[in-house]
Amino acid sequence: MNKRISIQDILQKKHHQKIICLTAYTFPIAKILDEYCDIILVGDSLGMTVYGMSDTVDVTLEMMINHGKSVMRAVKKSFVVVDLPYGTYEESPEQALESAQKVITQTGCDAIKIETSRQMVATAKFLVENNINVMGHVGLMPQSVRKIGGYKYQGRDEKSALEILETAKLLEEAGVFSMVIEAVPAVLADKISASLKIPTIGIGASENCDGQVLVIDDLLGLNQEFKPKFVTHYASLAGEIKLAVEKFCEDVRAKKFPAKGNLV
Ligand code: KIV
Repeated sequence: MNKRISIQDILQKKHHQKIICLTAYTFPIAKILDEYCDIILVGDSLGMTVYGMSDTVDVTLEMMINHGKSVMRAVKKSFVVVDLPYGTYEESPEQALESAQKVITQTGCDAIKIETSRQMVATAKFLVENNINVMGHVGLMPQSVRKIGGYKYQGRDEKSALEILETAKLLEEAGVFSMVIEAVPAVLADKISASLKIPTIGIGASENCDGQVLVIDDLLGLNQEFKPKFVTHYASLAGEIKLAVEKFCEDVRAKKFPAKGNLV
């Protein structure tokens, strides 16, 4: 049996080995990714990739718990982080603790992630003090897209860059074990990674982050129309699926499926 990756393993990777993190939302994908990932993130990006929502704002705790359970059934090795969705942790540290405890006890995951502006530092600290493993998330915070008016790179001017850097340092002091840095200029991501003892996981940030995360659907090219600058499609699965389904249709019409071997 594989040994599960621990927080200590993740912390030790800083300066030694890049941390590989991918999202997974379901059993079959988590089963494949488990061999390759240090961290599997059950991201609230599932609102878009699985449920076809236009952003993550309407994702519920129930959805996160159901997908967290599905992923946990498959995982033997990776460290699993589940996102707390919008509206389940911002009100008070107590609300955040209640949501985090629900997610952890019902899924068995290892940690939760929250989107962490400076106002969320006290909440992160409270969670850590109550034995919750917390991953932070700075830079572009997708749960705020309606407020900030879209998916925009953050920290482009000196003032906002400094705010993100300071927040990252405060989060480290608060006890988060690692941090996603999303959609900021590479120089800022490099400064944050160099300033922190905990590992940083970049997305649209810098190759110098301690690890990288991608949404699995983007890596696999499941939605060919969605290709922001920071995404590389490592496969074109949408095309592969279309070809397979076209072949199935052809075979059914030509009575080649089911074949003799498919029948009793
Ligand atoms: O929800 C998600 O998938 C994420 C990653 C993009 C970091 O937060």
